[in-house]
Amino acid sequence: MARIQITGGRPLEGTVAISGAKNAVLPMLMASLLTEKPCGLSGVPHLKDVTTSMELLAQMGVEISLGEHFRVEMEARELAGDTAPYDLVKTMRASILVLGPLLARQGVARVSLPGGCAIGARPVDLHLKGLKAMGADIHVDSGYIVARAERLRGARVVLDTATVTGTENIMMAATLADGTTVIENAAQEPEVADLAECLISMGASISGHGTNTITIEGRERLGGYDYTVLPDRIEAGTFLVAAAMTGGHVRVVNARSDTLDAVLGKLEEAGAKIETGPDWIELDMAGRRPRAVDITTAPYPGFPTDMQAQFTALNAIAEGTGVVRETVFENRFMHVQELQRLGADMRLEGNAVVIRGVEELTGAPLMATDLRASACLVLAGLVAAGDTVVDRVYHIDRGYENIEEKLRQLGARIQRLAG
Ligand code: EPZ
Repeated sequence: MARIQITGGRPLEGTVAISGAKNAVLPMLMASLLTEKPCGLSGVPHLKDVTTSMELLAQMGVEISLGEHFRVEMEARELAGDTAPYDLVKTMRASILVLGPLLARQGVARVSLPGGCAIGARPVDLHLKGLKAMGADIHVDSGYIVARAERLRGARVVLDTATVTGTENIMMAATLADGTTVIENAAQEPEVADLAECLISMGASISGHGTNTITIEGRERLGGYDYTVLPDRIEAGTFLVAAAMTGGHVRVVNARSDTLDAVLGKLEEAGAKIETGPDWIELDMAGRRPRAVDITTAPYPGFPTDMQAQFTALNAIAEGTGVVRETVFENRFMHVQELQRLGADMRLEGNAVVIRGVEELTGAPLMATDLRASACLVLAGLVAAGDTVVDRVYHIDRGYENIEEKLRQLGARIQRLAG
Protein backbone atom coordinates (compact mmCIF):
# COMPACT_ATOMS: atom_id res chain seq x y z
CA MET A 1 0.00 0.00 0.00
CA ALA A 2 1.44 3.40 -0.96
CA ARG A 3 2.77 5.56 1.82
CA ILE A 4 3.87 9.20 2.03
CA GLN A 5 7.02 10.22 3.91
CA ILE A 6 7.46 13.76 5.19
CA THR A 7 10.55 15.27 6.85
CA GLY A 8 9.30 18.17 8.94
CA GLY A 9 10.69 21.55 9.88
CA ARG A 10 10.53 23.69 6.74
CA PRO A 11 8.20 26.72 6.41
CA LEU A 12 6.15 26.51 3.20
CA GLU A 13 6.83 29.33 0.75
CA GLY A 14 5.52 30.08 -2.74
CA THR A 15 2.43 29.71 -4.93
CA VAL A 16 0.22 26.67 -5.55
CA ALA A 17 -2.73 26.21 -7.94
CA ILE A 18 -5.95 24.76 -6.55
CA SER A 19 -7.85 22.06 -8.49
CA GLY A 20 -11.57 21.82 -9.23
CA ALA A 21 -13.92 21.01 -6.35
CA LYS A 22 -14.38 17.25 -5.86
CA ASN A 23 -17.72 17.72 -4.14
CA ALA A 24 -19.09 19.73 -7.06
CA VAL A 25 -17.62 17.55 -9.83
CA LEU A 26 -19.23 14.35 -8.53
CA PRO A 27 -22.88 15.54 -8.76
CA MET A 28 -22.13 17.34 -12.07
CA LEU A 29 -20.88 14.09 -13.61
CA MET A 30 -24.07 12.33 -12.47
CA ALA A 31 -26.18 15.19 -13.87
CA SER A 32 -25.20 14.00 -17.38
CA LEU A 33 -27.76 11.20 -16.84
CA LEU A 34 -30.55 13.81 -16.97
CA THR A 35 -30.17 14.38 -20.73
CA GLU A 36 -29.35 12.52 -23.93
CA LYS A 37 -27.41 15.57 -25.14
CA PRO A 38 -23.59 15.91 -24.89
CA CYS A 39 -22.14 17.30 -21.67
CA GLY A 40 -18.60 18.65 -21.18
CA LEU A 41 -17.01 19.42 -17.81
CA SER A 42 -13.73 21.36 -17.49
CA GLY A 43 -11.42 21.87 -14.54
CA VAL A 44 -12.02 18.31 -13.36
CA PRO A 45 -9.43 17.19 -10.76
CA HIS A 46 -7.58 13.92 -11.32
CA LEU A 47 -8.98 12.02 -8.32
CA LYS A 48 -9.91 8.44 -7.52
CA ASP A 49 -13.50 9.44 -6.78
CA VAL A 50 -13.73 11.04 -10.24
CA THR A 51 -12.50 7.93 -12.05
CA THR A 52 -14.84 5.80 -9.92
CA SER A 53 -17.77 8.04 -10.95
CA MET A 54 -16.77 7.73 -14.60
CA GLU A 55 -16.62 3.92 -14.28
CA LEU A 56 -20.09 3.93 -12.75
CA LEU A 57 -21.55 6.11 -15.51
CA ALA A 58 -19.88 4.01 -18.24
CA GLN A 59 -21.46 0.90 -16.71
CA MET A 60 -24.83 2.62 -17.17
CA GLY A 61 -24.17 3.20 -20.83
CA VAL A 62 -22.91 6.77 -20.73
CA GLU A 63 -20.28 7.38 -23.45
CA ILE A 64 -17.36 9.05 -21.69
CA SER A 65 -14.13 10.46 -23.09
CA LEU A 66 -11.28 12.44 -21.57
CA GLY A 67 -10.13 15.70 -23.19
CA GLU A 68 -6.88 17.53 -22.42
CA HIS A 69 -6.37 19.05 -18.95
CA PHE A 70 -8.74 16.39 -17.71
CA ARG A 71 -11.85 17.74 -19.41
CA VAL A 72 -14.58 15.06 -19.33
CA GLU A 73 -17.04 14.64 -22.21
CA MET A 74 -20.18 12.58 -21.58
CA GLU A 75 -23.20 11.52 -23.65
CA ALA A 76 -26.01 9.51 -22.06
CA ARG A 77 -27.91 8.85 -25.30
CA GLU A 78 -29.13 5.39 -24.42
CA LEU A 79 -28.91 4.19 -20.82
CA ALA A 80 -27.87 0.55 -20.62
CA GLY A 81 -28.90 -0.08 -17.09
CA ASP A 82 -30.59 1.15 -13.95
CA THR A 83 -28.22 -0.19 -11.32
CA ALA A 84 -25.38 1.30 -9.30
CA PRO A 85 -23.68 -1.91 -8.09
CA TYR A 86 -22.45 -2.55 -4.54
CA ASP A 87 -18.84 -3.13 -5.60
CA LEU A 88 -18.63 0.45 -6.88
CA VAL A 89 -20.91 2.14 -4.34
CA LYS A 90 -18.96 0.64 -1.42
CA THR A 91 -15.80 2.41 -2.64
CA MET A 92 -17.54 5.76 -3.10
CA ARG A 93 -20.61 6.78 -1.11
CA ALA A 94 -21.27 9.66 -3.48
CA SER A 95 -22.54 7.05 -5.98
CA ILE A 96 -25.88 7.68 -4.26
CA LEU A 97 -26.01 10.79 -6.47
CA VAL A 98 -27.11 8.68 -9.46
CA LEU A 99 -30.41 7.92 -7.72
CA GLY A 100 -32.20 11.21 -8.41
CA PRO A 101 -31.02 11.63 -12.02
CA LEU A 102 -31.74 7.97 -12.97
CA LEU A 103 -35.21 8.08 -11.44
CA ALA A 104 -36.03 11.36 -13.19
CA ARG A 105 -34.61 10.24 -16.54
CA GLN A 106 -35.98 6.71 -16.85
CA GLY A 107 -38.39 6.19 -13.98
CA VAL A 108 -36.43 3.39 -12.34
CA ALA A 109 -33.19 3.17 -10.34
CA ARG A 110 -31.49 0.46 -8.30
CA VAL A 111 -28.70 1.85 -6.14
CA SER A 112 -26.81 -0.15 -3.53
CA LEU A 113 -27.26 1.29 -0.07
CA PRO A 114 -23.91 3.01 0.52
CA GLY A 115 -23.50 1.71 4.04
CA GLY A 116 -21.57 3.63 6.64
CA CYS A 117 -17.98 4.77 6.46
CA ALA A 118 -15.19 5.60 8.89
CA ILE A 119 -16.64 8.98 9.91
CA GLY A 120 -20.18 7.90 10.61
CA ALA A 121 -23.35 5.99 9.77
CA ARG A 122 -23.99 8.31 6.82
CA PRO A 123 -27.70 7.44 6.39
CA VAL A 124 -29.54 8.40 3.19
CA ASP A 125 -33.05 8.45 4.71
CA LEU A 126 -33.57 12.12 3.80
CA HIS A 127 -32.69 11.46 0.14
CA LEU A 128 -35.41 8.78 0.06
CA LYS A 129 -37.92 10.87 2.02
CA GLY A 130 -37.59 13.69 -0.52
CA LEU A 131 -37.99 11.43 -3.55
CA LYS A 132 -40.99 9.69 -1.94
CA ALA A 133 -42.58 13.13 -1.41
CA MET A 134 -42.19 13.57 -5.18
CA GLY A 135 -44.19 10.40 -5.80
CA ALA A 136 -41.47 7.77 -6.04
CA ASP A 137 -42.20 4.25 -4.87
CA ILE A 138 -39.08 3.24 -2.93
CA HIS A 139 -38.19 0.07 -1.05
CA VAL A 140 -34.97 -1.68 -0.03
CA ASP A 141 -34.36 -5.15 -1.42
CA SER A 142 -31.21 -7.19 -0.62
CA GLY A 143 -29.16 -4.10 0.18
CA TYR A 144 -30.37 -2.15 -2.84
CA ILE A 145 -32.60 0.91 -2.93
CA VAL A 146 -35.21 0.17 -5.61
CA ALA A 147 -36.99 3.33 -6.75
CA ARG A 148 -39.74 3.69 -9.35
CA ALA A 149 -41.83 6.60 -10.62
CA GLU A 150 -43.85 7.06 -13.82
CA ARG A 151 -42.96 10.73 -13.63
CA LEU A 152 -41.92 12.55 -10.46
CA ARG A 153 -44.14 15.42 -9.46
CA GLY A 154 -43.11 18.66 -7.79
CA ALA A 155 -43.45 18.73 -3.99
CA ARG A 156 -42.50 20.76 -0.93
CA VAL A 157 -39.64 18.91 0.82
CA VAL A 158 -38.51 19.93 4.32
CA LEU A 159 -35.12 18.39 5.19
CA ASP A 160 -34.58 17.47 8.86
CA THR A 161 -30.86 18.19 8.43
CA ALA A 162 -29.27 20.27 5.69
CA THR A 163 -27.83 17.24 3.86
CA VAL A 164 -25.50 18.24 0.99
CA THR A 165 -25.91 15.23 -1.30
CA GLY A 166 -29.55 14.87 -0.19
CA THR A 167 -30.22 18.41 -1.42
CA GLU A 168 -28.35 17.64 -4.65
CA ASN A 169 -30.21 14.38 -5.32
CA ILE A 170 -33.62 15.98 -4.81
CA MET A 171 -32.68 19.09 -6.79
CA MET A 172 -31.48 17.04 -9.79
CA ALA A 173 -34.61 14.85 -9.71
CA ALA A 174 -36.83 17.94 -9.49
CA THR A 175 -35.44 19.44 -12.73
CA LEU A 176 -37.50 16.89 -14.75
CA ALA A 177 -40.49 16.58 -12.40
CA ASP A 178 -44.01 17.68 -13.29
CA GLY A 179 -44.51 20.95 -11.39
CA THR A 180 -42.65 22.93 -8.77
CA THR A 181 -40.43 21.56 -6.00
CA VAL A 182 -39.40 23.64 -3.00
CA ILE A 183 -36.57 22.30 -0.81
CA GLU A 184 -36.68 23.83 2.70
CA ASN A 185 -33.66 23.66 5.02
CA ALA A 186 -31.61 22.98 1.88
CA ALA A 187 -27.80 22.76 2.09
CA GLN A 188 -26.17 26.12 1.23
CA GLU A 189 -22.69 24.82 0.36
CA PRO A 190 -21.03 26.51 -2.66
CA GLU A 191 -20.87 23.11 -4.37
CA VAL A 192 -24.68 22.89 -4.24
CA ALA A 193 -24.98 26.39 -5.75
CA ASP A 194 -22.43 25.55 -8.46
CA LEU A 195 -24.35 22.36 -9.34
CA ALA A 196 -27.52 24.48 -9.64
CA GLU A 197 -25.73 26.84 -12.04
CA CYS A 198 -24.63 23.82 -14.10
CA LEU A 199 -28.22 22.51 -14.20
CA ILE A 200 -29.50 25.98 -15.19
CA SER A 201 -27.04 25.93 -18.11
CA MET A 202 -28.85 22.72 -19.19
CA GLY A 203 -32.15 24.61 -19.23
CA ALA A 204 -33.31 23.84 -15.69
CA SER A 205 -35.31 26.47 -13.84
CA ILE A 206 -33.80 26.87 -10.34
CA SER A 207 -33.76 29.76 -7.87
CA GLY A 208 -32.66 30.24 -4.24
CA HIS A 209 -29.57 28.02 -4.53
CA GLY A 210 -26.98 29.08 -1.98
CA THR A 211 -29.80 29.85 0.50
CA ASN A 212 -31.77 27.38 2.65
CA THR A 213 -34.76 27.42 0.29
CA ILE A 214 -34.34 26.20 -3.29
CA THR A 215 -37.20 26.30 -5.82
CA ILE A 216 -37.12 24.15 -8.98
CA GLU A 217 -39.70 24.33 -11.82
CA GLY A 218 -39.68 20.93 -13.54
CA ARG A 219 -39.03 20.76 -17.30
CA GLU A 220 -39.98 18.14 -19.93
CA ARG A 221 -36.34 17.70 -20.90
CA LEU A 222 -32.93 19.29 -20.49
CA GLY A 223 -30.13 20.10 -22.90
CA GLY A 224 -26.47 19.25 -22.39
CA TYR A 225 -23.91 21.46 -20.65
CA ASP A 226 -20.42 22.86 -21.18
CA TYR A 227 -19.32 23.89 -17.72
CA THR A 228 -16.24 24.60 -15.63
CA VAL A 229 -16.34 23.52 -12.00
CA LEU A 230 -15.52 25.95 -9.18
CA PRO A 231 -12.23 25.64 -7.25
CA ASP A 232 -12.00 23.26 -4.29
CA ARG A 233 -12.36 25.39 -1.13
CA ILE A 234 -11.30 22.51 1.10
CA GLU A 235 -8.07 21.91 -0.84
CA ALA A 236 -7.38 25.67 -0.68
CA GLY A 237 -8.10 25.72 3.06
CA THR A 238 -5.84 22.70 3.59
CA PHE A 239 -2.85 24.41 1.94
CA LEU A 240 -3.49 27.63 3.89
CA VAL A 241 -3.49 25.69 7.18
CA ALA A 242 -0.24 23.98 6.10
CA ALA A 243 1.31 27.43 5.56
CA ALA A 244 0.04 28.67 8.94
CA MET A 245 1.33 25.57 10.79
CA THR A 246 4.82 25.87 9.27
CA GLY A 247 5.09 29.65 9.84
CA GLY A 248 5.28 30.13 6.07
CA HIS A 249 4.06 32.47 3.34
CA VAL A 250 1.89 30.92 0.61
CA ARG A 251 -0.44 32.15 -2.15
CA VAL A 252 -3.13 29.74 -3.39
CA VAL A 253 -4.34 30.62 -6.90
CA ASN A 254 -7.60 29.53 -8.59
CA ALA A 255 -9.26 29.97 -5.20
CA ARG A 256 -12.46 31.79 -4.26
CA SER A 257 -12.09 33.58 -0.92
CA ASP A 258 -15.88 34.19 -0.81
CA THR A 259 -16.37 30.44 -0.18
CA LEU A 260 -13.94 30.37 2.77
CA ASP A 261 -15.09 33.17 5.10
CA ALA A 262 -15.32 31.00 8.24
CA VAL A 263 -11.93 29.36 7.58
CA LEU A 264 -10.11 32.61 6.78
CA GLY A 265 -11.58 34.19 9.91
CA LYS A 266 -10.15 31.37 12.06
CA LEU A 267 -6.75 31.62 10.34
CA GLU A 268 -6.63 35.34 11.16
CA GLU A 269 -7.60 34.52 14.76
CA ALA A 270 -4.62 32.13 14.77
CA GLY A 271 -2.38 35.10 13.89
CA ALA A 272 -2.10 34.77 10.09
CA LYS A 273 -2.03 37.83 7.84
CA ILE A 274 -4.46 37.19 4.95
CA GLU A 275 -4.78 39.06 1.67
CA THR A 276 -7.27 38.13 -1.07
CA GLY A 277 -7.76 38.88 -4.78
CA PRO A 278 -10.36 37.91 -7.38
CA ASP A 279 -8.99 34.37 -7.71
CA TRP A 280 -6.26 34.05 -5.05
CA ILE A 281 -5.67 34.04 -1.31
CA GLU A 282 -2.32 34.79 0.34
CA LEU A 283 -1.37 33.83 3.87
CA ASP A 284 1.73 35.14 5.64
CA MET A 285 2.68 33.81 9.07
CA ALA A 286 6.06 35.59 9.02
CA GLY A 287 7.67 32.75 10.94
CA ARG A 288 5.29 33.08 13.88
CA ARG A 289 3.79 30.09 15.73
CA PRO A 290 -0.02 30.00 15.35
CA ARG A 291 -2.26 30.83 18.31
CA ALA A 292 -4.79 28.13 19.35
CA VAL A 293 -8.37 28.65 18.10
CA ASP A 294 -11.75 27.22 19.13
CA ILE A 295 -13.72 25.55 16.32
CA THR A 296 -17.31 24.29 16.10
CA THR A 297 -18.25 22.69 12.78
CA ALA A 298 -21.63 23.44 11.19
CA PRO A 299 -23.37 23.34 7.81
CA TYR A 300 -22.36 26.16 5.43
CA PRO A 301 -21.85 29.09 5.93
CA GLY A 302 -20.63 27.76 9.32
CA PHE A 303 -17.17 26.30 9.80
CA PRO A 304 -16.84 23.28 7.44
CA THR A 305 -16.51 19.82 8.98
CA ASP A 306 -14.10 18.99 6.10
CA MET A 307 -11.62 21.46 7.64
CA GLN A 308 -11.94 20.16 11.22
CA ALA A 309 -9.07 17.66 11.13
CA GLN A 310 -6.71 20.22 9.61
CA PHE A 311 -7.41 22.72 12.42
CA THR A 312 -7.04 19.97 15.02
CA ALA A 313 -3.51 19.53 13.65
CA LEU A 314 -2.90 23.29 13.75
CA ASN A 315 -4.00 23.45 17.39
CA ALA A 316 -1.64 20.56 18.21
CA ILE A 317 1.37 22.88 17.75
CA ALA A 318 -0.31 26.23 18.50
CA GLU A 319 0.29 28.54 21.45
CA GLY A 320 -2.40 27.93 24.09
CA THR A 321 -5.38 25.59 24.33
CA GLY A 322 -8.02 25.14 21.62
CA VAL A 323 -11.32 23.20 21.69
CA VAL A 324 -12.56 21.60 18.46
CA ARG A 325 -16.19 20.50 18.46
CA GLU A 326 -17.59 18.27 15.67
CA THR A 327 -21.35 18.61 15.29
CA VAL A 328 -21.91 17.20 11.76
CA PHE A 329 -20.50 13.64 11.94
CA GLU A 330 -20.48 11.32 14.92
CA ASN A 331 -17.02 9.79 14.51
CA ARG A 332 -14.69 12.25 12.86
CA PHE A 333 -11.84 12.25 15.40
CA MET A 334 -9.84 9.18 14.33
CA HIS A 335 -6.90 11.47 13.55
CA VAL A 336 -6.64 12.33 17.27
CA GLN A 337 -4.97 9.09 18.34
CA GLU A 338 -2.61 9.32 15.37
CA LEU A 339 -1.62 12.89 16.32
CA GLN A 340 -1.04 11.68 19.89
CA ARG A 341 1.57 9.28 18.45
CA LEU A 342 3.48 12.37 17.33
CA GLY A 343 3.36 13.76 20.89
CA ALA A 344 0.24 15.92 20.60
CA ASP A 345 -1.40 16.75 23.95
CA MET A 346 -5.12 16.34 23.28
CA ARG A 347 -8.04 14.53 24.89
CA LEU A 348 -11.47 13.64 23.59
CA GLU A 349 -14.49 14.87 25.57
CA GLY A 350 -17.72 13.71 23.90
CA ASN A 351 -18.01 15.40 20.49
CA ALA A 352 -15.08 17.72 21.25
CA VAL A 353 -11.32 17.44 21.55
CA VAL A 354 -9.40 19.68 23.99
CA ILE A 355 -5.96 20.44 22.59
CA ARG A 356 -3.02 21.91 24.51
CA GLY A 357 -0.52 23.13 21.94
CA VAL A 358 3.02 21.74 22.27
CA GLU A 359 6.27 23.31 21.10
CA GLU A 360 7.25 20.37 18.97
CA LEU A 361 5.92 17.11 17.56
CA THR A 362 8.18 14.15 16.77
CA GLY A 363 7.84 12.18 13.53
CA ALA A 364 6.44 8.61 13.64
CA PRO A 365 4.69 6.05 11.42
CA LEU A 366 0.95 6.86 11.16
CA MET A 367 -2.19 5.29 9.67
CA ALA A 368 -4.67 7.29 7.59
CA THR A 369 -8.33 6.44 8.25
CA ASP A 370 -10.36 8.79 6.06
CA LEU A 371 -9.83 11.51 3.50
CA ARG A 372 -9.48 14.64 5.61
CA ALA A 373 -7.79 12.83 8.51
CA SER A 374 -5.05 11.71 6.12
CA ALA A 375 -4.51 15.30 4.97
CA CYS A 376 -4.25 16.37 8.62
CA LEU A 377 -1.55 13.74 9.28
CA VAL A 378 0.48 15.02 6.31
CA LEU A 379 0.20 18.55 7.70
CA ALA A 380 1.39 17.36 11.11
CA GLY A 381 4.34 15.65 9.40
CA LEU A 382 5.32 19.00 7.87
CA VAL A 383 6.03 20.39 11.35
CA ALA A 384 7.13 17.24 13.23
CA ALA A 385 10.85 16.81 13.85
CA GLY A 386 12.31 13.98 11.77
CA ASP A 387 10.38 11.64 9.47
CA THR A 388 6.66 10.90 9.49
CA VAL A 389 5.32 8.11 7.27
CA VAL A 390 1.56 8.09 6.59
CA ASP A 391 0.21 4.69 5.51
CA ARG A 392 -3.01 3.95 3.52
CA VAL A 393 -2.68 7.13 1.49
CA TYR A 394 -5.31 5.85 -0.94
CA HIS A 395 -7.63 7.82 1.33
CA ILE A 396 -5.83 11.03 0.44
CA ASP A 397 -5.84 10.30 -3.30
CA ARG A 398 -9.65 10.36 -3.22
CA GLY A 399 -9.72 14.07 -2.54
CA TYR A 400 -6.35 15.70 -3.24
CA GLU A 401 -4.77 15.90 -6.70
CA ASN A 402 -0.98 15.31 -6.54
CA ILE A 403 -0.71 16.55 -2.97
CA GLU A 404 2.95 15.66 -2.60
CA GLU A 405 3.94 17.46 -5.84
CA LYS A 406 2.05 20.55 -4.75
CA LEU A 407 3.58 20.55 -1.27
CA ARG A 408 7.06 19.90 -2.73
CA GLN A 409 6.57 22.99 -4.94
CA LEU A 410 6.17 24.92 -1.67
CA GLY A 411 9.43 23.57 -0.26
CA ALA A 412 8.17 20.56 1.70
CA ARG A 413 10.43 17.51 1.98
CA ILE A 414 7.85 14.91 0.97
CA GLN A 415 7.84 11.79 -1.16
CA ARG A 416 5.57 8.86 -1.98
CA LEU A 417 6.99 5.44 -1.00
CA ALA A 418 5.82 2.65 -3.28
CA GLY A 419 4.11 -0.45 -1.94
C1 EPZ B 1 -21.12 15.84 1.80
O1 EPZ B 1 -21.38 14.56 2.32
C2 EPZ B 1 -19.66 15.83 1.38
N1 EPZ B 1 -19.48 14.82 0.33
C3 EPZ B 1 -18.78 15.52 2.59
O2 EPZ B 1 -17.44 15.61 2.16
C4 EPZ B 1 -19.02 16.59 3.65
O3 EPZ B 1 -18.26 16.28 4.80
C5 EPZ B 1 -20.51 16.63 4.01
O4 EPZ B 1 -21.29 16.85 2.82
C6 EPZ B 1 -20.85 17.73 5.00
O5 EPZ B 1 -20.44 18.96 4.48
C7 EPZ B 1 -19.87 15.11 -0.94
O6 EPZ B 1 -20.39 16.18 -1.23
C8 EPZ B 1 -19.61 14.05 -1.96
P1 EPZ B 1 -24.49 15.25 4.57
P2 EPZ B 1 -22.89 14.12 2.62
O7 EPZ B 1 -25.58 14.45 3.93
O8 EPZ B 1 -23.81 14.77 1.67
C9 EPZ B 1 -26.91 13.44 8.16
C10 EPZ B 1 -15.22 14.97 2.01
O9 EPZ B 1 -14.34 14.87 2.89
N2 EPZ B 1 -27.79 12.85 7.14
O10 EPZ B 1 -24.50 16.73 4.39
O11 EPZ B 1 -22.92 12.63 2.71
C11 EPZ B 1 -25.53 12.78 8.17
O12 EPZ B 1 -25.55 11.64 8.99
C12 EPZ B 1 -16.60 14.44 2.27
O13 EPZ B 1 -15.06 15.52 0.90
C13 EPZ B 1 -28.94 12.16 7.55
O14 EPZ B 1 -29.21 12.03 8.74
O15 EPZ B 1 -23.11 14.72 4.06
C14 EPZ B 1 -24.65 13.87 8.73
O16 EPZ B 1 -24.71 13.82 10.14
C15 EPZ B 1 -16.69 13.73 3.61
N3 EPZ B 1 -29.76 11.63 6.61
C16 EPZ B 1 -25.32 15.16 8.25
O17 EPZ B 1 -26.63 14.81 7.81
C17 EPZ B 1 -29.50 11.74 5.27
O18 EPZ B 1 -30.30 11.24 4.45
C18 EPZ B 1 -24.63 15.84 7.11
O19 EPZ B 1 -24.43 14.86 6.12
C19 EPZ B 1 -28.33 12.44 4.87
C20 EPZ B 1 -27.50 12.99 5.81
